[in-house]
Amino acid sequence: MVLDKMPQLKIGDLVLEKPIIQGGMGVGISLSGLASAVANAGGLGVISYVALGLLEQESKMKYREANIVRLRREIRTAKQKTNGVVGLNIMVAMSDYNELLKTAVEEEVDIVFLGAGLPLRFPKGYTVDKIKKIKTHFAPIVSSGRAAQIVFQYWEKSFGRIPEAVVVEGPKAGGHLGFKKDQIDNPDFKLENIVPDVIEVIASFEKRLGKKIPVIAAGGIFTGADILKFLELGASGVQMATRFVATDECDASDLFKQAYVQCKEEDIEIIESPVGLPGRAIRNSFIEEVKAGEQKPFQCSWKCLKTCDYRTTPYCIADALAYAQKGELLKGFTFAGSNAFKVDKIIPVQTLMDTLESEFRNAQKVKPKSRVALEA
Ligand SMILES: Cc1cc2nc3c(=O)[nH]c(=O)nc-3n(C[C@H](O)[C@H](O)[C@H](O)COP(=O)(O)O)c2cc1C
Repeated sequence: MVLDKMPQLKIGDLVLEKPIIQGGMGVGISLSGLASAVANAGGLGVISYVALGLLEQESKMKYREANIVRLRREIRTAKQKTNGVVGLNIMVAMSDYNELLKTAVEEEVDIVFLGAGLPLRFPKGYTVDKIKKIKTHFAPIVSSGRAAQIVFQYWEKSFGRIPEAVVVEGPKAGGHLGFKKDQIDNPDFKLENIVPDVIEVIASFEKRLGKKIPVIAAGGIFTGADILKFLELGASGVQMATRFVATDECDASDLFKQAYVQCKEEDIEIIESPVGLPGRAIRNSFIEEVKAGEQKPFQCSWKCLKTCDYRTTPYCIADALAYAQKGELLKGFTFAGSNAFKVDKIIPVQTLMDTLESEFRNAQKVKPKSRVALEA
């Protein structure tokens, strides 16, 4: 059967017209502008919370306070701009994780995506009773079936509630990756191989608890044909980020977006981030200088990441990413997914969503076997 439209995606009581989640992108790449545009176009828009205080440098506030003030502002602005579904991405490794989670719950964000570590705790004072009543939905970001099992089992036992969805992020994603360097090109860790593992783990929770828990595939999904492929593999939706950078509404500067348009496949490389994880980025002079051993002096304003040793790191990743967001690429660099070289122009979000829909429709007309041949 050829579907005229992509199927809806239901996460708990949230209903999306399109099964597309725009992945959270820090620092400041996906804020209320991009998130609300995606939500208005029928997808799920995600505001990234990473170091938002750095974008408030003019203000006299301390970073920790500025982070929360800016976060509330972004959430409220997004809600004013759309009646669609808007989420928030929080990294578990942030040192103000508890405050961020509290803010998200207070602001009644539709859904929080929890990445860069396994989310196994709630802020102090959150009793099981309180956790059960939280309206906000939750979705951990994992890179294996094992990680999904740990999170869901722990939540069920400790919080009397399980997350409403799970994102499986493979090694082709942009930004920090949940893989060791030698796993990135190992076929065992391909998204196509880890999605079925996670689906299997989640199926046992679905069966026992009698509810649907959508599995969302992420990392390297670029076209409507890719979306079809992962839905056919059993995912309920996809999370895409790289393609949303190349939109008018993306909250990064034009120079950041142009780095995507201009890069070639060989410019996209894996870097060692001070966070202690590999990351995927577009090579530039800043990356070359750091690789050559140059130290980039900085003052750690607040220890934003639990895993960062600011005394030994050659540069501040939050500063570097915040500079890139503003277009000061000599002082930083752009994170990007493995497909960023395929970006050739900047378009409105609605045009991108329409393109994905028509690519999805056309891909269904190709017989499954020839689809595989096309991808090879
Ligand atoms: C510029 C950029 C910044 C990102 N920042 C974050 C982040 O702060 N937190 C996070 O969980 N994922 C981050 N990601 C990962 C995306 O949310 C997404 O899951 C992934 O990139 C999907 O793969 P794709 O870019 O190939 O579509 C980032 C990705 C990009 C391209």
